Amino acid sequence: MNLKTFCIIAGLIFGTMIQAQELLSPDGNLKMTFSLENETPTYQLDLQGKTVINPSKLGFELKDAEPLTTGFTVENTETRTVDETWEPVWGETKTIRDHYNELLVHLKQQSTDRKMSIRFRLFDDGLGFRYEFTEQPELTYFIITDEKTQFAMTGDHKAFWIPGDYDTQEYDYTTSKLSEIKGLWQQAVTPNASQTPVPNTVQTALMMKTEEGLYINIHEAALVEYPAMHLELGDDNLTFEAHLTPDAVGNMAYMQAPRNTPWRTIIASDKAGDILLSNITLNLNEPNVLEDTSWIKPVKYVGVWWEMITGKSSWAYADLPSVKLGETDFANAKPTGKHGATTEHVKEYIDFAAANGLDQVLVEGWNVGWEDWFGKSKDYVFDFVTPYPDFDLPELRDYAKSKDVRLMMHHETSGSIRNYERHLDTAYQFMRDNNYNSVKSGYVGDIIPRGEHHYGQWAVNHYLYAVQQAVKYHIMVNAHEAVRPTGLRRTYPNLIGNESARGTEYEAFGGSHPDHTTILPFTRLIGGPMDYTPGIFQPDVSQLNPENNSRVRTTLARQLALYVTMYSPLQMAADVIENYEAHMDAFQFIKDVALDWDTTLVLEAEPGDFITYARKQKDSDNWFVGRTNDEEKRTSSIDFSFLDTGKKYIATIYADAQDASWETNPQAYVIQKYIVTSKSKLKQECASGGGYAISIFPVRDSALTRGVKKL
Ligand code: NOJ
Ligand code: CA
Repeated sequence: MNLKTFCIIAGLIFGTMIQAQELLSPDGNLKMTFSLENETPTYQLDLQGKTVINPSKLGFELKDAEPLTTGFTVENTETRTVDETWEPVWGETKTIRDHYNELLVHLKQQSTDRKMSIRFRLFDDGLGFRYEFTEQPELTYFIITDEKTQFAMTGDHKAFWIPGDYDTQEYDYTTSKLSEIKGLWQQAVTPNASQTPVPNTVQTALMMKTEEGLYINIHEAALVEYPAMHLELGDDNLTFEAHLTPDAVGNMAYMQAPRNTPWRTIIASDKAGDILLSNITLNLNEPNVLEDTSWIKPVKYVGVWWEMITGKSSWAYADLPSVKLGETDFANAKPTGKHGATTEHVKEYIDFAAANGLDQVLVEGWNVGWEDWFGKSKDYVFDFVTPYPDFDLPELRDYAKSKDVRLMMHHETSGSIRNYERHLDTAYQFMRDNNYNSVKSGYVGDIIPRGEHHYGQWAVNHYLYAVQQAVKYHIMVNAHEAVRPTGLRRTYPNLIGNESARGTEYEAFGGSHPDHTTILPFTRLIGGPMDYTPGIFQPDVSQLNPENNSRVRTTLARQLALYVTMYSPLQMAADVIENYEAHMDAFQFIKDVALDWDTTLVLEAEPGDFITYARKQKDSDNWFVGRTNDEEKRTSSIDFSFLDTGKKYIATIYADAQDASWETNPQAYVIQKYIVTSKSKLKQECASGGGYAISIFPVRDSALTRGVKKL
């Protein structure tokens, strides 16, 4: 590292000793300045001379102890540069470069003799920093009651936000100026299953845009043994401060040194696409700890699911009170008459998966307990191993195997983490014994033990424990309603999915705003993939359940695009078989689309408006393009210069028809084939709530191109 990269400025300003230390990103464009102002640690971030984060304070308040906020001196500092490349087990790119300059500042609080270090890593696309506590006599066990980390904005930025909440992220986004957040906050808190909204607070990943066109994203990486962080907006409507999720008695984090906090991340760029392509969150996580990853595979699946979400079928086998809560004997039960997970019905899904090359079939409502799944009995209701009488598990297991398809396990815990941990090993062993290798788990409703929150330290520990235990049984985990991801999939690549945001299910609960999927990649997906469950071909939900008048607020073409724009190694074709059978030409895209990638490009992007991705399938020459469009009709212009020069490809474009719109004509789509090369260009109309999907395959047999137009 040269002198230019690190320079120490020491001076006396207004009688206070200010020690400032600068850290530059490898390309020199970002600058982080650390200083002690009135003995309080602060940092500032600049991009090419423009300030991204104004001087912001760092520190903690502790229970029954002096706060760790001021009275510090710098003991010494360490610097280093790292430039490494690693390969994720699965991901958006085949390799990932981890390149940063690091500054580690060792601080000492003179009055208490306690030490605290802050490690800053500055990448070309952003900053990560965390607090580190070494083992020391004066600070071994301590309880954090408040984290004082600030993120001071420089202006009244446009923000894409959901209200802070200790228990859910399942909100629609609000787009507003920072100064409007407090006024709009109440209205943004739409009711849902389990929520504990926190006034004047927003969740991360928080996406912002400045008036000058700078994109800023704040989140966290490697959330381990610590509560999730929200951001509380201060009186100035500019300065955010960390707001941690408390436990049942109001404490935030129980610490035992040596211990580090999660990383706080700030991604910044004048290109929106750079935010989407940033690997900061992954790079700040520890490398993969699994020796053998051969059992971890991306999964495309269908399921007995949408019919329950829409209300057509039931998860429960019987009606209360014809069975007692927690009852496993159904001899005298009164069946609901619409139980979804029956042996016959599941076989239809297995047949459909087998016929279309899909890997797995999710079955929800297969196990006893759903009669009162988030009611009074939730503390003991599920044992995760006892099927309902009309679900013949051995028969279905063998039937699926004979068709080269697997069943996907479902563990709804109803938020009773205590009950789940009691049964976890038996439940995982049961999966192994019955040929399951992936589980969709869920945490609907209030957490038990009561008073704990979904995003508190105790629950955060549980989600990771469930993933770590799953490793022993070679099980891949997709947890719904768990804490939003923070890149832990790098360390545990069997964590193949999470929900932790408003997914497709909300299209059957009244609908999400049509711009939802133009925001999610900039917010929720910064932490990791989402089991968004796209692929709804019949947007009129009343067709399945006449009592449900919800409408899916996207066109059919956009449902296809989401397989490319909502990155995930786990993709569901979420609709019911009949709806696919009515549009097998469009279903072809879902069959074709890849789940794992060599290369990912962002061709067009503006949060809240549109995103167009192009991705090259792993170890293949196939490309897929996806475009999601907000409520405005727009024209997308892309070129195919990403293709190999001199090579011919066949592109199949699945687009909105001229008269398509999510509101009035969502199922109107056109499918066209063209020959494309790296010189081709496309101008494509996108409907309101629309978009398009393209599969691009190299031409192997020129006979197939006869009569196909060139683009
Ligand atoms: C909420 C999940 O997000 C949904 O997918 C699931 O069907 C229900 N919980 C029941 O477990
Ligand atoms: Ca959910």
